[in-house]
Amino acid sequence: MECYETQMRTEPMALMNPPHLLPEPAAPRDLVSIHDLAPAEILSLFNLTTMLKQRPADFRGVLAGKQMVMFFEKPSLRTRLTFEAGMDSLGGSTFFVDQTASRLNARESLYDIAHNLERWIDIIVLRTFSHTVVEEMATYAGVPVINALSELEHPCQALADFFTLHEHFSDLSKIHFAYVGDGNNMAHSLLLAGASVGAKVSIATPEAYGLNPVIVTMAKAIADETRASLRILTDPRKAVAGADAVYTDAWASMGHEQEAAERAAIFAPYQVNAALMQLAKPHALFMHCLPAHRGCEVTDQVIDSVNSVVFDQAENRLHIQKAILVWLLGGGVGRFPSRSAHA
Ligand code: CP
Ligand code: NVA
Repeated sequence: MECYETQMRTEPMALMNPPHLLPEPAAPRDLVSIHDLAPAEILSLFNLTTMLKQRPADFRGVLAGKQMVMFFEKPSLRTRLTFEAGMDSLGGSTFFVDQTASRLNARESLYDIAHNLERWIDIIVLRTFSHTVVEEMATYAGVPVINALSELEHPCQALADFFTLHEHFSDLSKIHFAYVGDGNNMAHSLLLAGASVGAKVSIATPEAYGLNPVIVTMAKAIADETRASLRILTDPRKAVAGADAVYTDAWASMGHEQEAAERAAIFAPYQVNAALMQLAKPHALFMHCLPAHRGCEVTDQVIDSVNSVVFDQAENRLHIQKAILVWLLGGGVGRFPSRSAHA
């Protein structure tokens, strides 16, 4: 006790940094929606992704000492493993919490969880049913939050997908990107990403399974900025005509499995088969976020064709997420002014 008191008394206060000399705490950026990235930031992120993909050894250890926690309310193969492998190769560590048995906020409030996590952990990755849970965590936590899929969006996947397109076509403002199927989380993030890169985007869904109007409004506002052209349709043939890339996703997403039979009948005309692909450009790529339901939204002939890039997309999940982690954990803060700075 004496020793402690002596030390306290003799510690010259003048040697401690006065508050005004402490570094300004940078407001944490989050990736909850594609909308959190300004169009120019997406292209910067793609440049960083290219560097990470080409020269992974140059980035080994850049996130040493950083810790990531992942709470997943739904199953995952790609998202979980690419985040874990990506963080490991950057020198950071990961804690995975299997949240499939109960919702994240079933035991205590998100507010309390967030204020615990921010004391221990540098970044939070969530896969949830409710998009609001990701938004609230981002609001409350003083560390970055990444949406690893919610019912509204899947931004990491859409970024990997447009990065894959960038590798194939370079200038994304010149491509026609078509999506056919459910107006789900993938469709939303792809619409926002396509609008952000200035592409022509055609989306066809059954009338009753259309896009969220708030997302469409957001995408239109981005398109005004980037000169993207957006077409929201119900006819899959119109959407695919002349496309450079044709994308589809599960007809019944996670959480909707019990509707699979009912949806199969409604979505049958939206199956991506050889006849539908014939309407796209001859070089048109086939894309899918996976997992695929072969024989439902896509035939074996199409997904196994030479034009299918589904495994390139899966590979690029690793590279894009490494870039997202480097960016959000400080590796690129100075080079990524916030979206408001671009408005
Ligand atoms: N595409 C994708 O997010 O796959 P997982 O559900 O396996 O993570
Ligand atoms: N729309 C799908 C995407 C899976 C990666 C789902 O939410 O299940």
